[in-house]
Amino acid sequence: MSLRYLDEVDSTNSWLRRELQELKDGDAVYTASQTAGRGRRGRSWQNRPGEALYYSRLVRRPLADPSTLPLMVSLAGADAVQALCGRRPEVKWPNDLLFDGKKICGILCESVLEGAGASYILGVGFNLLQTAAFFEEQGLDHAASLFSATGRRCLPGDAALALDGALARRLDAFAAGGFAALAEEYRACCVNLGRQVYTDTVRGVAAAIDDAGRLVVRTPEGEEAVFTGEVTVHGIY
Ligand code: BTN
Repeated sequence: MSLRYLDEVDSTNSWLRRELQELKDGDAVYTASQTAGRGRRGRSWQNRPGEALYYSRLVRRPLADPSTLPLMVSLAGADAVQALCGRRPEVKWPNDLLFDGKKICGILCESVLEGAGASYILGVGFNLLQTAAFFEEQGLDHAASLFSATGRRCLPGDAALALDGALARRLDAFAAGGFAALAEEYRACCVNLGRQVYTDTVRGVAAAIDDAGRLVVRTPEGEEAVFTGEVTVHGIY
């Protein structure tokens, strides 16, 4: 296992994908400047050189429940944030981390077919040092950083080490036990539950996170389990 630093890269997820042949399970890369960072659903992920962490890790080992990797990564991200600034963020299903309803971390998990199996790239972006004024100027009123939310100045290198350690610990339990091993903990910090939510296909009250990691939405017609996609939570963003 190794954790490698790059001065600048297009995207740490893309870098891992290009270097796959040379890498092994647990290898990770980070930078504080991405020129073509990628977000979920084909969006871009903003670069703020020196003020954020951009990190990706390769998982190449058997997993009981790979489809719920993003939920596990969100808990590892929360562990790291807590270790760094003494405050634990909430999770917005499936994997955004929030302080005071504002997003401090985004997660992009991708799978790569390799022979008969698959490997996974876990990409994590932490907003660290950006100010509230910066987010306002950018029109990002739903975003925050560890600094703007807690006043703590965490450097990208320290954040990378904390996240790398947290992921290594979480992955050991997750590889064998899958989401079931962390479902209770996930539910306890999930902001969606009990709130009005909207997705592309359904609107209603978020009633549960089931054992498959799906968001169960209660509508006048009954309950529907949502597995992927974007969810808007009323009163958050
Ligand atoms: C989201 O849309 O919320 C997910 C954002 C994920 C961003 C991280 S930054 C490190 C890694 N490399 C990328 O290009 N994206 C992920």
